[in-house]
Amino acid sequence: MNIGIIVYSQTGNTDAVAQKLQEKLTAAGHTTTLERITVTGNVSPGAKDFQFTSSPAVDQYDAVIFGAPVQAFSLAGVMTSYLSRLSSLSNKKAACFVTKQLPFNWTGGNRAISGMKKICASKGATVCETGIVIWSKSGREQNISACVEKLSRVF
Ligand SMILES: Cc1cc2nc3c(=O)[nH]c(=O)nc-3n(C[C@H](O)[C@H](O)[C@H](O)COP(=O)(O)O)c2cc1C
Repeated sequence: MNIGIIVYSQTGNTDAVAQKLQEKLTAAGHTTTLERITVTGNVSPGAKDFQFTSSPAVDQYDAVIFGAPVQAFSLAGVMTSYLSRLSSLSNKKAACFVTKQLPFNWTGGNRAISGMKKICASKGATVCETGIVIWSKSGREQNISACVEKLSRVF
């Protein structure tokens, strides 16, 4: 399968998970491309008018995996804006993951994932799996491995 892994990462955590995911999927025989969403200007929570310097197209992929950080108890605005601008995800399998700092359930992970799922579904994708990596929790490496394993299994 030709899989695009499309990430937004401000400080590298989400990117690190995406790289592990790419290694795993490539080892399983898939063609994978890791693409980064980049912007200039203000990215603080609440900002909306992002200037995209890289906004990867997804048409060429059979499946897409989107990854982003949780910010201000929600999906990072850059990823919300990127996903909303995509014209279509129809006939594509999709998976989504987020990384976050805080360990508690109410600190944005579930909300961010539901936001991603909702936009992907509205563009016609079938979202097969999701994952949350909590950066501050002990056993982070196991958390990352479990997330990578869970997401890669559906392709
Ligand atoms: C502006 C901002 C807001 C954040 N808000 C939250 C939050 O609400 N909940 C949480 O668990 N982590 C929060 N974090 C932590 C990030 O989600 C976490 O460090 C994440 O792994 C960063 O991913 P990145 O390195 O790919 O940017 C926030 C970080 C920033 C910079």
